[in-house]
Amino acid sequence: MAAATLPTIIQGGMGIGVSHWPLARAVSLRGQLGVVSGTALDAVFARRLQDGDVGGHLRRALSRFPVPGVAERLLERYFIDGGRLRGEPYRATPLPTLQPSAHQLELLIAANFVEVFLAKDGHEGLIGINYLRKIEPPTLPSLFGAMLAGVDVVLMGAGIPTTIPGTLDRLAQGLAVELPLEDQGGGTEARLHFDPQEFGASRGATLPPVARPDFYAIVSYDSLATMLCRKANGRIDGFIIEDYTAGGHNARPRGPMRLNERREPIFGPRDGADLAVFRQLGIPFWLAGTRAHPDRVREAIQAGAQGVQVGTAFAFCAESAMRGDLKQLVYDAVRSGRADVLTDPLASPAGLPFKVVQLDETLADQALFEARPRHCDLGYFRHAYAKGNGSIGWRCPAEPVDDYLQRGGRLEDTHGRKCLCNALIAAIGLGQHRNGHDEPPLVTAGQGLSEVARYIRADGQCYTAGEVIDDLLTGVPAACTND
Ligand SMILES: Cc1cc2nc3c(=O)[nH]c(=O)nc-3n(C[C@H](O)[C@H](O)[C@H](O)COP(=O)(O)O)c2cc1C
Repeated sequence: MAAATLPTIIQGGMGIGVSHWPLARAVSLRGQLGVVSGTALDAVFARRLQDGDVGGHLRRALSRFPVPGVAERLLERYFIDGGRLRGEPYRATPLPTLQPSAHQLELLIAANFVEVFLAKDGHEGLIGINYLRKIEPPTLPSLFGAMLAGVDVVLMGAGIPTTIPGTLDRLAQGLAVELPLEDQGGGTEARLHFDPQEFGASRGATLPPVARPDFYAIVSYDSLATMLCRKANGRIDGFIIEDYTAGGHNARPRGPMRLNERREPIFGPRDGADLAVFRQLGIPFWLAGTRAHPDRVREAIQAGAQGVQVGTAFAFCAESAMRGDLKQLVYDAVRSGRADVLTDPLASPAGLPFKVVQLDETLADQALFEARPRHCDLGYFRHAYAKGNGSIGWRCPAEPVDDYLQRGGRLEDTHGRKCLCNALIAAIGLGQHRNGHDEPPLVTAGQGLSEVARYIRADGQCYTAGEVIDDLLTGVPAACTND
């Protein structure tokens, strides 16, 4: 991506599925960087097909998938004309694992292709895709699917993406790639593997050439950025510097974690990034975390940033996939001054602090959380552990406690863990229905949630992504925008 086209506003990737293609496309059409979430796209895609693919967009994109037979097989398995019957559970998608089946590979690659294809369809604007480093098994085929659709930027946070830049280089040359699993306490040194040529050849296809997207690392500390610059196995094209007020996952505070009276991690002045270090690195950077105000965009630019990355303000706009009833609950809370976001140190099975909007009827409600029987049927936060026999197993601290203990996990690691997979997919209206109940949703947003009040309309109608962008760019010098 040429420097002249660098965006001022990046609409942050928001999983699961909140920043789906219509949102990213709307942002991109305004000359800024729209980012689709790549997290759990296989499940999101399979469930949308089972809901009848309203509008036919997924089928339209699938028909352009460059490997013959894949579209037909996926449609055969998941598409339900007219959608599921009321109360019928979604058909399961395979759990992420070290060696994906042929079907799983096709689903992952096609789902990522379709999301990027639709976001980019019919215009020249830029589209990025966001992944979490801590969600490992789907990463390589997902990257390849997004690249097949011409994704412009890959953004990755929640972990240390040292080998991702080189992976993008190799995929762009059609070469096989590997990803070492991060050690998340399971004592494994396994590597994930993906060979694009093998994928194509075994299906009788010659794959089209793919371009190397830019790579932006999402970091909270300058020390991680300097380390990445030294150790990354390829080019880093940008940094998103995300502070602890941002929605979704946050980095842990430095040093031992101390909690306040609400049992939230205490962040202090040491838990920020030294921008002077980033200015010296000479790589474009964007600031993220409570930046949804034109003054804060201008401040960021004055501090040497290219612009800002914003999530929360986009999460509740018309084009986001967040359920309409949840958007309205949030609007009501914001309007009445009751919007409350808690930084929960335990909720995420990834072991990072996670922002949770305190709303009734969601998993933020302690009684509802305790009443929910634990299930692990999506499995994105499972991490690998070494089994006694030398093979690899997978476990998640939010899975049923007995299963976790049987898999060698520690009881204390299960406390307060919420099944983000099921709860976040429920927040975009794709929650599983089981035993007569719908999975309860969970909503994440940044500490600046109350600032969404700037955009909320008196008639309760949703504001648009375009309104947010117009507002954020107010008074920003034209030389800094691509509008
Ligand atoms: C609903 C929601 C989901 C998010 N999910 C992700 C995610 O999957 N990956 C990621 O890197 N960041 C995620 N974020 C963080 C955003 O990309 C962005 O950096 C952040 O929201 C910026 O701070 P703000 O919330 O104060 O605008 C999420 C944020 C929100 C509000």
